[in-house]
Amino acid sequence: MPDDVLTSKLAGFGTTIFAEMSALATETGAINLGQGFPDTDGPQAVLDAAIDAIRAGVNQYPPGLGDADLRTAIAEHQRRWYGIELDPATQVVVTAGATEALAGAMLGMLDAGDEVIVFEPMYDSYQACLALAAAIPVPVLLSPDADGVYGFDAADVRDAVTDRTKLVLLNTPHNPTGKVFTRAELDAIAAVAIEHDLIVVTDEVYEHLVFDNAEHVPMATLPGMFERTLTISSGGKTFHTTGWKIGWMMGPTELVTAARMAKQYLTYVNGAPFQPATAVGLRLPDSYFNQLVADLQIARDRLVDGLRAAGFVTHSPEASYFATIDIRSAQPDGDGMAFCRSLPVTAGVVAVPTEVFYMHPEHGRHLVRFACCKQLDVIDAAVERLVASFGVATTGSGAS
Ligand SMILES: Cc1ncc(COP(=O)(O)O)c(C=O)c1O
Repeated sequence: MPDDVLTSKLAGFGTTIFAEMSALATETGAINLGQGFPDTDGPQAVLDAAIDAIRAGVNQYPPGLGDADLRTAIAEHQRRWYGIELDPATQVVVTAGATEALAGAMLGMLDAGDEVIVFEPMYDSYQACLALAAAIPVPVLLSPDADGVYGFDAADVRDAVTDRTKLVLLNTPHNPTGKVFTRAELDAIAAVAIEHDLIVVTDEVYEHLVFDNAEHVPMATLPGMFERTLTISSGGKTFHTTGWKIGWMMGPTELVTAARMAKQYLTYVNGAPFQPATAVGLRLPDSYFNQLVADLQIARDRLVDGLRAAGFVTHSPEASYFATIDIRSAQPDGDGMAFCRSLPVTAGVVAVPTEVFYMHPEHGRHLVRFACCKQLDVIDAAVERLVASFGVATTGSGAS
């Protein structure tokens, strides 16, 4: 066997941090606030629809573009929430989660050496997909201001453009910071995209998990942007069905077709009975979506308050599943990776070091991410452990 079995494109990637930390959780019996998956089931109507579909024999390959009724439901959803008009026959494709849509977009649109503007920190699959496409990520840093609100310098986006730039890869609401890009920020990105004729691929999987007064603005709704934007989302976060991996990509036919060309050779299709069930979810009344975010906001507040009680400077997210702490009050060397590797043993809790979301890990070395998409008693138990481990030593180190 050759020594270099692994493609050089994936050199340096290793096993994902989520696998490593979840394995540690199992080994140690620690409470897992690392990976972002809910620990309760989603709406009964959605679960029942999947069971009914299996019983009704929806167990073979679905159509290549995805179940026709799900594609219609996705188009209805985009009209209902954002006023976006899509032709479900040509402008919507169902994928194996948002992850496959992202891979399809990168592999289907990029050539070796193409440059892609990305915002760091970023969801971990982005860098791997870009590497597989042999494309070059050009990062723009998201950093918190004095109030802990993450933002970027619009000049950095303009400066990131070269004659090799093809695409901007955006994620709003954002993992891991919980940032919701404002309309003004999206306008600034859109202006650069239009001026330089760039494609925007936008990952909006947390679109329904937006707290307080923040508003999710899809890039495709901005003037002049629909025609150059591929929007990606999925049902996992919205319906507590992350294991079903039903996602979708939508936008102008040319972009959807390019991404589909690669997607069809990845999985071809997936999740036949989960597709009609996800259509049921997308058609649930507003009350479902409102309750989903209201419940999650309570969990967010419980976790954020608890992390602060344990003495950590804590960033409360505007959206998504994740709160971030600065560990330096407990670990002055700021080594988040070491902190997370020892936390299951020292405190019985699992979290994820935020540095893995950065191209330049030094920017996030002192930050650690906790998921709040858990039952309140699970959050309380984790907080109790953290307070017991860190609270006394670091009380008073403040909140942000
Ligand atoms: C920003 C972001 N995009 C995509 C995904 C993956 O979505 P899916 O499970 O639908 O593939 C996640 C999951 O955590 C995520 O945080």
